[in-house]
Amino acid sequence: MDSLLIQGGVSLKGTVKVSGAKNAALPILFGGILFDEPVVFENVPHLRDIQTTQKLLETLGFATNFEQNRMEIAPKGSGIVPEAPYDLVKTMRASVLCLGPLLARLGEASVAMPGGCAIGARPVDLHLSALERMGAEFTLDGGYIKGRCKKLRGAHIQFDFPTVGGTENIMMAACLAEGETVLDNAAREPEIVDLANFLNSCGAKIEGAGQTQIRIRGVTGLSQEQPYRIMPDRIEAGTYLIAAAMTNGEVRVEDCPYKDMEALCSKLEACNVHLSYEDNAVVAKPHGELNAVDIRTLPHPGFPTDMQAQFMAMLTMCRGSGIVEETIFENRFMHVPELVRMGADIRLSGNSALVRGVPSLTGAPVMASDLRAGAALVIAGLCADGETRVDRIYHVDRGYEGMELKLQELGARIRRVQTPA
Ligand code: EPZ
Repeated sequence: MDSLLIQGGVSLKGTVKVSGAKNAALPILFGGILFDEPVVFENVPHLRDIQTTQKLLETLGFATNFEQNRMEIAPKGSGIVPEAPYDLVKTMRASVLCLGPLLARLGEASVAMPGGCAIGARPVDLHLSALERMGAEFTLDGGYIKGRCKKLRGAHIQFDFPTVGGTENIMMAACLAEGETVLDNAAREPEIVDLANFLNSCGAKIEGAGQTQIRIRGVTGLSQEQPYRIMPDRIEAGTYLIAAAMTNGEVRVEDCPYKDMEALCSKLEACNVHLSYEDNAVVAKPHGELNAVDIRTLPHPGFPTDMQAQFMAMLTMCRGSGIVEETIFENRFMHVPELVRMGADIRLSGNSALVRGVPSLTGAPVMASDLRAGAALVIAGLCADGETRVDRIYHVDRGYEGMELKLQELGARIRRVQTPA
């Protein structure tokens, strides 16, 4: 079992390049199911979740080839096997994104119920009810969602909640459905825009991605003209901006999609972090002592829930107190007891946390419980006095390409070690 060993106290200095966005790459790769010809993607990050997606696509009947951030997906020719097995789905909830494309391509799908994860129950009821409105019928059999349809047809769908995965599943399903689909209360995340841009570049007819209403007119087939480049990862970028501020350093974050990061950047500036914007980079450094602010996570363009844990790590050492309100997931404070072990002063009350700044954190052995909690513990370790060991770093490997290598480049004293399971 891998861990990261960190000696705190180094101010990060230098340049870090942001990798392709995990949460854009995952739906886009599953979009490859919609094609009966090879598709190629560039700037695909080397992550555990991408490996899991590759395995799942292979199981479904697609050959994949992934080298130097370039991924090719091609039908094997032996036909599509419309079953996403539990042993893969349980390791990555995003596997449910194969449901819409399989129903659109084949009219049938059998996908293991994703089950919950550390941050919450993560149901898929909104995905299923939307697909039912498009003509799919579902049964739950032995922990598998079994779906069937003759031919998906366009429908007017209103989401109770702007679900990111639900919006992506419906967008992909509607591309090959008969007629027009109107999706109201759609999620507006930038990764959804990236998925729409990819699909439209292959002949889909999607309008309004990034807005609350998306219209998709079904077409008979899709065809890729040239490789599609995945957008940069705004969450990885934000994690490094925070690491720069917390360690009293100065870091240039290259390929930083800051136009998609306004909620985070404005909160960082309110904390006294100085951000200077270049054409596709941001330089971050603290402007004196950091001040605490309050944050509330919301669907995009609000403050991203995927930045909550990392921002809280920074709040533990700001002057004053800040309130963190998590409105998206019901259990996304697993990093709190681990930060408290490092000397943070955090009080939980329901979906809120009161963080009182302390002069310093103390290194300690801590455990990652999920991807962003793990990232928060790593950046806390960069600032803590002494040594921090972050266990179960496989969580971080799901969403951060070469995190310790990028941090070493910035001067951090961090290395990967094996620890007994
Ligand atoms: C995506 O998850 C991201 N994952 C998550 O990033 C991110 O935190 C989340 O969107 C919110 O921004 C990927 O893109 C692969 P949702 P998703 O459907 O699609 C409830 C990370 O760290 N809900 O918008 O699963 C759900 O329980 C990961 O990179 C229903 O109730 O998010 C949750 O409370 C973590 N029924 C809320 O909506 C449904 O059918 C948000 O879920 C679907 C969702």
